[in-house]
Amino acid sequence: MTNNNVKVAARTLKMGKLVAFPTETVYGLGADATNSEAVARVYSVKNRPLHHPLIVHVSSLKQATLWVNEMPEYARKLALEFWPGPMTLILSRSNLAQGFITGNQATVAIRIPSHPIAIDLLMEFESLGGAGVAAPSANKFGAVSPTSCNDVYEEIGVALSNEDLILDGGKCDVGIESTIIDCSSNVPRILRPGAITYEEISHVTELKFPRKITSSQVKAPGTLDSHYAPKARVKLDTKAKQGDGFIAMAGIPTPEGAIRLSAPLTSKEYARELYSALRLGDQQKLKTIVVIQPKGTGIEIGIRERLMKSANYTNKLT
Ligand code: TXA
Ligand code: MG
Repeated sequence: MTNNNVKVAARTLKMGKLVAFPTETVYGLGADATNSEAVARVYSVKNRPLHHPLIVHVSSLKQATLWVNEMPEYARKLALEFWPGPMTLILSRSNLAQGFITGNQATVAIRIPSHPIAIDLLMEFESLGGAGVAAPSANKFGAVSPTSCNDVYEEIGVALSNEDLILDGGKCDVGIESTIIDCSSNVPRILRPGAITYEEISHVTELKFPRKITSSQVKAPGTLDSHYAPKARVKLDTKAKQGDGFIAMAGIPTPEGAIRLSAPLTSKEYARELYSALRLGDQQKLKTIVVIQPKGTGIEIGIRERLMKSANYTNKLT
């Protein structure tokens, strides 16, 4: 099922099958974004509620414009600056973006990823006449996103068929999902924080807009639906007890009896390691993982947002 031939993978997508592939953020579970049956299988493999819109991945700005109706000037600036990269833009949709991709909304989510295997796959798919690849993170609904090929296999391997594929692109460099920016009005709105920060968006667009993360009206990022949760209970900024998992910056010592899952030196490394550290806690069947959150207003905002959601969710269960 694992294969590194992008030509075969592109044909697999074109035939209506699924291909899990690496991006610089997390692994995605890809389907031809114009094929409603293939997209329906993505929902069923993930156990994802229907009508939850998907991101369309393309290889170039030219290809992106096929999916959108209009692109405000500030969105174009963002696209030119940060694509290919860990950013998703929400734009008014063209007729190519059908209801089964957009959750029947007037907008579509578009991203050009920078991982070389993702770009190769998309270019190959487009050369076969494909328009774009719909790809949510390749995890079961509500679980932690996969950041390695092995994670994908463990999450959804059994739910895939023999004709589907998983491409191996090593460990993801960013480690948390893309920054989502709603560009459907006259100023940008951040719907999901990530590696592309408020400061960068504000600098490039030369616009001032609220810092607040505004979850969209759709059942989208920011709702409890996306809980980014491991099986263990996640507790934030509290004292770890004997047998608890522990995640914190390298400078913070491990409390006695706690099990260190990650000790990143930088916030970038924190993001890169976070999901695999949470998974490691589950593999070790830990009941509780204590996380000391990173401070800062860059990618740290994205890290804290994911952590807050996993803590809220896991604490409700217990
Ligand atoms: O980094 C990423 O963005 C990864 C990689 C694979 O590209 N993908 C990813 O997809 O995180 P997913 O489906 O797990 O999260 C996409 C989020 C969802 O919460 C969805 O609701 C939101 O994007 N979204 C998609 N289309 C939207 C739209 N038209 N308006 C608002 N939110 C939208
Ligand atoms: Mg996801």
